[in-house]
Amino acid sequence: MISKNKRSKNLVITIATIAATGGLLFGFDTGVISGAQNFLQDAGGWGISDSQLEWVTTAVLIGAVLGAALSGRITDILGRKIVIIIAAVIFAVGAIFTGAAPSVSLLVIGRIIIGIAIGIASFSVPLYISEISPTRNRGALVTMNQLMITIGILVSYISDYLIANDANPFSWRWMFYVGFFPALILLVGMFFVPETPRWLIGKGREEQGRRILNKVEEPELVDEAVEKIKADIARESESASYGEIFKPWLRTALVIAVGIMFFQQFTGINTIIYYSPKIFKIAGIESNTLTILPSILLGAVNVLFTVVSIMLLDKLGRRPLYFIGMVGMIVGLCGVGLSFFFEDSLGASLKYFTVASMFIYIIFFAVSLGPLGWLIISEVFPLKIRGVGMSIGSLSNWLFNGIVAFTFLKLVNALSPAGAFWLYAAIGVLGIYWGNKFIPETKGITLEKIEDHWREGKKPRELSK
Ligand code: BGC
Repeated sequence: MISKNKRSKNLVITIATIAATGGLLFGFDTGVISGAQNFLQDAGGWGISDSQLEWVTTAVLIGAVLGAALSGRITDILGRKIVIIIAAVIFAVGAIFTGAAPSVSLLVIGRIIIGIAIGIASFSVPLYISEISPTRNRGALVTMNQLMITIGILVSYISDYLIANDANPFSWRWMFYVGFFPALILLVGMFFVPETPRWLIGKGREEQGRRILNKVEEPELVDEAVEKIKADIARESESASYGEIFKPWLRTALVIAVGIMFFQQFTGINTIIYYSPKIFKIAGIESNTLTILPSILLGAVNVLFTVVSIMLLDKLGRRPLYFIGMVGMIVGLCGVGLSFFFEDSLGASLKYFTVASMFIYIIFFAVSLGPLGWLIISEVFPLKIRGVGMSIGSLSNWLFNGIVAFTFLKLVNALSPAGAFWLYAAIGVLGIYWGNKFIPETKGITLEKIEDHWREGKKPRELSK
């Protein structure tokens, strides 16, 4: 017979996996545009301009900013489960809307709709998973979400590749339609999972909350968990306002959260995630379909090294990974820049140099700034304002992401591809200087100790065991 512990562990894993389909959709719907781009610009189809393409790409991010900003309050009022169900419906509608779009402006609107769902999912899925998980496993699950995002990106590349057909300039329609299926899985799956005990107890539905805890938590921890939830809720309601976060003692935490998202985005990760087939095309790979192939490998390497990062984060620590990662990313970015700078002398081998440099870049991003961004914002804020703090962190992420995606092709046209990548490398150098001052070593440190550290007005660098 399976023991109760094992049964509840399996149950939690099943529930978390269903909800994490939301993370997968986040990755899928941000990545799917990459394979569609060259088709959207194909002269045989719509033949849209670079600036229209930037709108189509960036529209998702505008929606995501809206979704992330709205979902905090709504998840408190309606519950986590309902909000994820709403996100699943929006994902499904958005997939059909974008696939069937009759004009560029309607495609942009469809992408904004999908973006709203992404913004909601980026905030509510990790929240749901962390609240439904037994206390012991909560930490690992934060980074699991990043893994699902990278898997979603990879799935979108593979599906783009399978659908791409050079003879059909409207191949992009089916690339978007595919997003309907994971949305349907999320929608149906969410009807079978419970609301989180924390939200239920917060709404005075203690019996219901207790019943769910009985299923997911270890039996001897249930009473303790209920008491802890009640105490947390009491403490949070003391002062959970937006204003609290701007108090002087929390300024460092705020600078860290916004700063790490700034450097995660302004070192150009999503120019590679969204625009890689386009970059490969500039580098001389002619077939629209073949430009997707190296992107698939990039996506797979991204997943693989996110797994490596999960294994290293608690061993090496956050600071060493940040610096190792940033140095590797700068080398990769300089390499991409150099390969375009020496375009004429490299000739046909240009594409190999470009591809190799992009691999160096993505490996170092995946072990460092990718997971670190989302991990650090979940660690630096005291419990009672963690929700508000995290939503400011994710809002900054989407805002910076939007600015970079919206300006990338303009930068390439204004500065040349080499200039654009060197600019991102220069920002990376600034990131080393900033990180040295601001990245705290949170490995093995309790969240209470981090809170006390800020209260005492100490510097991030002084935080250690
Ligand atoms: C970033 C995304 C990025 C993804 C790539 C995430 O941490 O926030 O912007 O697309 O990593 O793996």
